[in-house]
Amino acid sequence: MAFIHLDVGFLYTLLVCTAFGSMLSNAEIKVNPPQDFEIVDPGYLGYLSLQWQPPLFPDNFKECTIEYELKYRNIDSENWKTIITKNLHYKDGFDLNKGIEAKINTLLPAQCTNGSEVRSSWAETTYWTSPQGNRETKIQDMDCVYYNWQYLVCSWKPGMGVHFDTNYQLFYWYEGLDHSAECTDYIKVNGKNMGCRFPYLESSDYKDFYICVNGSSESQPIRPSYFIFQLQNIVKPMPPDYLSLTVKNSEEINLKWNMPKGPIPAKCFIYEIEFTEDGTTWVTTTVENEIQITRTSNESQKLCFLVRSKVNIYCSDDGIWSEWSDEQCWKGDIWKETLVFFLIPFAFVSIFVLVITCLLLYKQRALLKTFRDQKAEAFEITKKPFKSTSTFQTN
Ligand SMILES: *[C@@H]1O[C@H](CO)[C@@H](O)[C@H](O)[C@H]1NC(C)=O
Ligand SMILES: *[C@@H]1O[C@H](CO)[C@@H](O)[C@H](O)[C@H]1NC(C)=O
Ligand SMILES: *[C@@H]1O[C@H](CO)[C@@H](O)[C@H](O)[C@H]1NC(C)=O
Repeated sequence: MAFIHLDVGFLYTLLVCTAFGSMLSNAEIKVNPPQDFEIVDPGYLGYLSLQWQPPLFPDNFKECTIEYELKYRNIDSENWKTIITKNLHYKDGFDLNKGIEAKINTLLPAQCTNGSEVRSSWAETTYWTSPQGNRETKIQDMDCVYYNWQYLVCSWKPGMGVHFDTNYQLFYWYEGLDHSAECTDYIKVNGKNMGCRFPYLESSDYKDFYICVNGSSESQPIRPSYFIFQLQNIVKPMPPDYLSLTVKNSEEINLKWNMPKGPIPAKCFIYEIEFTEDGTTWVTTTVENEIQITRTSNESQKLCFLVRSKVNIYCSDDGIWSEWSDEQCWKGDIWKETLVFFLIPFAFVSIFVLVITCLLLYKQRALLKTFRDQKAEAFEITKKPFKSTSTFQTN
């Protein structure tokens, strides 16, 4: 009994000591936040570098691999992005239309402290592009379309109430370009830049594409606008072509078309089909370039369809529908219609022509006959005196 009592007492003391000991040792360990935390803009129109230096450090932690917890966001967004890293920099894309805030602390992992993880306080920083011009001077209605996954075209309207001398310029950058580039082929309206036709953009898919449209005017500063998108999400394909509609039997119909020509792989398309059966229209989608459908009535006389295409969710997050293709139709009871509209009139015309020909032939023969008769008669008449002379002579 006494042994058990002693044992419990010992355990209790041990527990208290360990708890207190670890509290004590943790309380002693403090770590500083990283130094020189800053956000650096290398001129890539939104792709920024967050960078810092290691914290001031007591010697006995030198062996430890320390980590940093980095949090950042655009100023009005709800959520922080959180990154744990051992590096001294981190890069990401930001919307430069807004400010950016970021904070970082030092993390000492548990194995360095003989206890639980230790964190420093936060070091914080913010970044704003130097704001110039008022909001109204920004361009409006920026619209960018990547036609057939080949040609990027952007267009915009000038800011409200900007002076007549205002002109805008477009700059772009994506990972792979050494520096941001200016548009080389502006779309001009009355001599002012209102859009840009981009050159061929090598390996530019599936990465952030940054655009800045800024401008200048003698009378007022112009506020730049920044845009970030991924090119595969703004693709507008060409419409499908070579549509064919085959009625296999009284019920089954096969619709087929060619996928649009160009660099977009077949597996990247989704098609929308608008099918009309005697005035009733319905719409369906498919990822194949062919579809079997059932006629709702085998009496239907007119079947038509047209197709448009878009890049599907296996190849992008979003896309723009192509224009509709030309319409392809099939008309029921072609035989009956052909009979009414073509064969019967044709038969009539043929018979008419035949009759006329016969008549003419008959007439011609009759005419020839009379002509020959007349000739014969005339011959007889001219011969008679001669004949009589000859008879006269011989006689
Ligand atoms: C952790 O414990 C080891 C031995 O148990 C000791 O050598 C080391 O100094 C301790 N480290 C800290 C940070 O207390
Ligand atoms: C527009 O932006 C580009 C790229 O950042 C810069 O080189 C240029 O000086 C800017 N132009 C104006 C008028 O601010
Ligand atoms: C239409 O379908 C019905 C049955 O669904 C069938 O009895 C009829 O023969 C069909 N008519 C034609 C013209 O094929």
